[in-house]
Amino acid sequence: MMQFSFSRAPSIRFAPGSVSELPKIASRFGGRALLVTGGRSLEASGARGRIVKSLVEGGVFVDTISVSGEPSPELVDDAVKAHAGRGLEVVIAVGGGSVIDAGKAISAMLHLGEPVVEYLEAVGTKTHDGGKLPFIAIPTTAGTGSEATKNAVLSRTGPDGFKRSLRHDNLVPDFAIIDPELMVSCPREVTAASGLDALTQLIESFVSTGASPLTDALAFSGLEKVKESLLPACSSGSADVAHRGAMAYGALMSGIALANAGLGVVHGLASPLGSIFGIPHGVVCGTLLAAAVKATVRKIIDVDDAAGLRKYARVGSLFTDCDIREKGQCCVRLVDHLEELVDSLEMPPLSKYGVREEHFARIIAEGGNKNNPVPLDREETAALLRSRL
Ligand SMILES: [Fe+2]
Repeated sequence: MMQFSFSRAPSIRFAPGSVSELPKIASRFGGRALLVTGGRSLEASGARGRIVKSLVEGGVFVDTISVSGEPSPELVDDAVKAHAGRGLEVVIAVGGGSVIDAGKAISAMLHLGEPVVEYLEAVGTKTHDGGKLPFIAIPTTAGTGSEATKNAVLSRTGPDGFKRSLRHDNLVPDFAIIDPELMVSCPREVTAASGLDALTQLIESFVSTGASPLTDALAFSGLEKVKESLLPACSSGSADVAHRGAMAYGALMSGIALANAGLGVVHGLASPLGSIFGIPHGVVCGTLLAAAVKATVRKIIDVDDAAGLRKYARVGSLFTDCDIREKGQCCVRLVDHLEELVDSLEMPPLSKYGVREEHFARIIAEGGNKNNPVPLDREETAALLRSRL
């Protein structure tokens, strides 16, 4: 008998130009906002100035903070110290996944005033209570789906680094404004890495041991859009709002699906590879995706997992128009297709970031399979990493 849980999804406004509705939406939560942005590209395009002006004209008092790179616990603590006690009523984040994660964590820590590291999974000892300020997420990249997830990823890079989540069902943003026009200036490399992150999340949540018919429907509809629009959105200087919108939809569905179904071995390995070697998250996902699907499908065939094979075959059929009745063949075609995709989007090998065979033991020990449909053992995982060195 089927059984599943589904936490919640944000209220969503999805339309080109919809960022102009922010003042009205923010006012529902209060008249004093903290605006978190990523700085340079939003500033250069003039969008940041326009957003601040529209909020002020809409009667919303705005404090601002800009963040760069993937957020650290210290960044969150400093922001909380600087803005606690200022009567904030809503936090708004406009940017890529890192900016949205930073805003999400700040909105969740303002009422606690304690170091966020104490609440991080596998690092801290405390459990977050779910209290927070209302949070509005406005993504400017199509990738992490953080605008719909219940966790904020915080990192410390270097030899003693970690990449861990602050997580609670209540941390799903209250509102997500998806405006594809904000994404047209996203550079090709960022569009490619973010898009491959979204694709990885859609595939991993679709085949996850935590998947349900509900998350399957969401993930598959995201895959349909990504199939049509990933390459066109990456073509140099693409200002095609329709393809940007399709990718934004895929990323949004990936966020809702992963928050409720979980992810697989690529995301298990992404934590140590990101924290120890500083590899951007989308690049880790992109470079490992095809190899991880290949290794997982091989094991699914070995252990005779008919349900797992059927799921990968459905994805293969979508992407390659193969005959769904030939499940093994569809899986082979899917792997070939993903390998071509990763090559054409020029995902770099792991060695470019200093990863070597001698690091595998630590990466595997700190990584994991998450909800991969079949767990890969140490040797299989090492072979997967080796194939992308
Ligand atoms: Fe991801």
